Amino acid sequence: MGSESEPRLRVIWTDPVTGRKGYAVIDRMVNGLAGGGTRMRSGVTLDEVERLARTMSYKNGAFNLPGGGAKGGVDIDPHDPEARGVLSRYVRAMRPLYRNGWGTAEDLGVSQELLNEVFAEQGVGMTVQAMLDRSGDPQAAGRRVSQGLAIKVDGIGLADCIGGYGVAEAAAAAAEHKGWDISKLRAVVQGFGSMGGASARYLARLGAKVVGVVDVNGAVTNPHGLDVERLLKSRSTLGEIDRSALQSGDREQPRERWLEIDADIIVPAAVADAITADNAAAIRGRMVVEAANIPTTEEAQSRLFERGVVDIPDYVANGGANAWWWWTLLGVIEPDADQSFKQVSKVMRETVKGILELADTRHITPRAAANQLSMENLDRLAGRLGEDASATPLEPVRA
Ligand SMILES: NC(=O)c1ccc[n+]([C@@H]2O[C@H](COP(=O)([O-])OP(=O)(O)OC[C@H]3O[C@@H](n4cnc5c(N)ncnc54)[C@H](O)[C@@H]3O)[C@@H](O)[C@H]2O)c1
Repeated sequence: MGSESEPRLRVIWTDPVTGRKGYAVIDRMVNGLAGGGTRMRSGVTLDEVERLARTMSYKNGAFNLPGGGAKGGVDIDPHDPEARGVLSRYVRAMRPLYRNGWGTAEDLGVSQELLNEVFAEQGVGMTVQAMLDRSGDPQAAGRRVSQGLAIKVDGIGLADCIGGYGVAEAAAAAAEHKGWDISKLRAVVQGFGSMGGASARYLARLGAKVVGVVDVNGAVTNPHGLDVERLLKSRSTLGEIDRSALQSGDREQPRERWLEIDADIIVPAAVADAITADNAAAIRGRMVVEAANIPTTEEAQSRLFERGVVDIPDYVANGGANAWWWWTLLGVIEPDADQSFKQVSKVMRETVKGILELADTRHITPRAAANQLSMENLDRLAGRLGEDASATPLEPVRA
């Protein structure tokens, strides 16, 4: 099955109580499994969910993880008082998919805690139950995942910071490839939730100066560098910054103008299509590290490439979070923060280096190079393990 084929399954659901829509797409399966988060966003469409499911296939391929890609989307604002009820009914309706191969996790507008609660309520087990059931030892695998999810790193859950840590490591690998010193670079991050907050934290820990962060309510900037940890402490569960935590020297500006913030590293970590052909011209930085899924339109990617801006594709840069789930579940790593960070750092740096080297050699975009490497990996895995479930339990697959 090639990368451009039709998705395996598209589902459109209508909530019987509110009439809201929900979508699920399974792009492809490997060994009877597909993985991908569940998001809540007013205006989410089947097309968006389908593109995201395809991205998840690439993401698994990039890191040699033995599953295809899937995605869920519920069309409601997460602030809406009806949101929890709609999500719960959506999960109930999707039960057959979760039971038969779709493993999911938090995504835009849905925290892992909320998803865990709703899954328990609907008797589906864990959000990655499909993978657990195939693991050969569901109890041990489930224990590792639960222990991993319980770990906190400086006040934030490991599952909520490992993805952003990977984004920072991807930026560091790209800087190294280019011969730039990351500690001399300035970063701006759009989105201050799980991905954006942790990307900002770990970029700052690598020595980069975080000169702007953006949430749904606007941008907060400081050319001398923001106190990221202070802003993280003020953050709501939906990733919104309490403006009373701002310090002298911090400034606010409308969120739409975030690309005008003068920075070297641009991290879109919120919504889809944030960087378009229209606003890409405002970018003065040297690299875009895509923490969100599909944040840069194809036309914008071409413009950035023409201008020599390094663009690390979404499913590579943000793939640390997904890989961490698989590695923990499969026992490649123990539920331990140090081991998790070391593994993500090692694999992310190798992967980004390999992609940028191939892109340089062939004079193609990093995304084109990543697409090629990723699909080769996934096709190889599907060839070895089959597309549909086999009786063989899951086992760690290494590159
Ligand atoms: N959470 C994960 O594990 C994970 C992993 C890989 C990729 N992603 C992707 O990262 C992106 C963010 O996911 P998340 O889990 O961090 O979400 P989240 O809900 O935790 O945070 C979203 C953040 O974006 C902000 N935001 C929302 N709309 C905005 C807008 N129009 N302009 C500026 N800021 C806006 C919110 O205020 C919040 O700070 C999504 O594309 C998601 O698919 C998430």
